[in-house]
Amino acid sequence: MRVLITAERIQERVGELAQLIGPEYRDRPLTIVGVLTGSVMFLADLVRRLDIPLRIGLIQASSYRGAATTPGALRVGADLLAEVRDRHVLLLDDILDTGQTLKQLVQHLHDQGALSVKVCVLLRKQDRQVHDVRVDFVGFEIPDEFVVGYGLDYNDEYRQLPHVAVLPRES
Ligand code: IMP
Ligand code: MG
Repeated sequence: MRVLITAERIQERVGELAQLIGPEYRDRPLTIVGVLTGSVMFLADLVRRLDIPLRIGLIQASSYRGAATTPGALRVGADLLAEVRDRHVLLLDDILDTGQTLKQLVQHLHDQGALSVKVCVLLRKQDRQVHDVRVDFVGFEIPDEFVVGYGLDYNDEYRQLPHVAVLPRES
């Protein structure tokens, strides 16, 4: 598979993101909420670069995109989510594609009483966003290709790769 972003470049960029994020939340009660499962590598690396007090939460979002289900239906599994009331939330995901997942999760976190909700994604796919969601921190802008690695999967595989690679299209 063709490597799109090397492990070294990812680590360097995660450090830069930590430099941007840290000052925003100094002296504010911060909970970083990772979207399962794709954000786990990013979450683990990012929090270790932040030298501010913080809590970690996890949230699950399963989208039904099959022909038989309503387009846009998303199930939020919040059982794992710690209390975010009166806390500032930074929502972390692997990739912003159409924006459907993050838009609904942002709303959910507001509904749970978060003081503020900002969004950080490792990757943003160009020209794919159809849902209006404000993203505050972006690791890398990437072309519209299907990518795997560093948390991102195809059929739940390849998440463990330390880099991001382009999955060849079936032909
Ligand atoms: P959205 O709701 O359309 O923005 O989709 C976001 C979710 O789709 C991500 O959290 C990923 O799980 C998945 N996704 C979108 N594009 C890719 C990709 O290129 N590789 C792997 N997963 C992807
Ligand atoms: Mg995902």
